[in-house]
Amino acid sequence: MIIMLLNLFFFVYDGAGPRSSLCFRRRDLASAILLPFMLPNINISSAAEPYDGSVIQNGVRKFLTKGKAAGVLRLVFHDAGTFDIVDQSGGMNGSIIYEVDRPENAGLNRSIKILGKAKEEIDSVQKVSWADLIAVAGAEAVALCGGPEIPVKLGRLDSNTADPTGKLPEETLDATALKASFSKKGFSTQEMVVLSGAHTIGGKGFGSPIVFDNTYFKVLVDKPQTSSSGMAGMVGLRTDWALAEDDECLRWIKIYADDQAKFFDDFRDAYIKLVNSGASWRTA
Ligand code: HEM
Ligand SMILES: *[C@@H]1O[C@H](CO)[C@@H](O)[C@H](O)[C@H]1NC(C)=O
Ligand SMILES: *[C@@H]1O[C@H](CO)[C@@H](O)[C@H](O)[C@H]1NC(C)=O
Ligand SMILES: *[C@@H]1O[C@H](CO)[C@@H](O)[C@H](O)[C@H]1NC(C)=O
Repeated sequence: MIIMLLNLFFFVYDGAGPRSSLCFRRRDLASAILLPFMLPNINISSAAEPYDGSVIQNGVRKFLTKGKAAGVLRLVFHDAGTFDIVDQSGGMNGSIIYEVDRPENAGLNRSIKILGKAKEEIDSVQKVSWADLIAVAGAEAVALCGGPEIPVKLGRLDSNTADPTGKLPEETLDATALKASFSKKGFSTQEMVVLSGAHTIGGKGFGSPIVFDNTYFKVLVDKPQTSSSGMAGMVGLRTDWALAEDDECLRWIKIYADDQAKFFDDFRDAYIKLVNSGASWRTA
């Protein structure tokens, strides 16, 4: 009975509106349970639409493995990275499911399929938007591989159409063009550099493909692309090396190569900004 009451109040708190941050960090859970008891005038009727982040988190965890983590994290960038701050188009609204046939999204159908299985399970308990699902799954992917724990606010609405084309950066861009591309999405050079640290997992050769650490930056600083194995160009994308050739970017690359904790902190902040880019939010 007491547990049921606690759950009820937790839902009340969660459903309290866009003002309430629907995070699910464990340390927040305690305050989410305790807070309603301390606040007067909680309107029980507003619990009509409970929304519990742990349902999404647990659903994702059932289907996510370390081997699938990189593809899932990439999905976040390819959904959210279409955001254009000037015309307010694109962004984190689940439109990626209409965009799998685009060349830049090749291979992401696999990640969408995995999340689709999680979505079926989660939907049977509580409807989840693709946008929320992808945002949570990316954070889970990072954590699963040993990266920072990232709290994800919930309540994104899905688009029912594809986003405009040509918004994601091409892998042939130089640092100046990359900065311009990220700037159009509202991201600074520092945020671009720290987000690019996502390439530390996956198949691009920056250390272990399933360990989220600061190896990406260490490799870029050491430049083994040309010195170690003799297999020039085997590690990283052209854009990764373009960053290392730019003074402003290199300054950040060195900072993150020397300080993994700072990388994790700044990545967390930039990830939160990424998954909130262009999102529209449910109001109840
Ligand atoms: C700076 C501009 C970026 C470019 C040009 C770029 C491009 C690419 C390309 C071409 C791949 C290889 C795909 C393949 O192997 O089939 C890749 C992989 C990946 N990208 Fe990016 N990306 C960029 C930024 C980002 C950002 C900001 C994130 C996430 C926050 C991200 C996450 C990933 C991940 C996790 C992979 C590995 C996927 C895997 O191995 O399965 N990328 N990216
Ligand atoms: C409680 O919320 C419901 C649904 O939002 C609303 O209809 C009702 O008037 C509210 N009651 C009070 C006392 O604020
Ligand atoms: C993804 O798409 C490719 C190319 O269209 C196809 O060969 C592959 O079987 C698809 N994979 C999944 C898991 O749907
Ligand atoms: C994303 O899709 C939602 C739902 O259709 C829409 O309301 C929103 O405007 C889209 N985002 C942007 C930045 O256009």
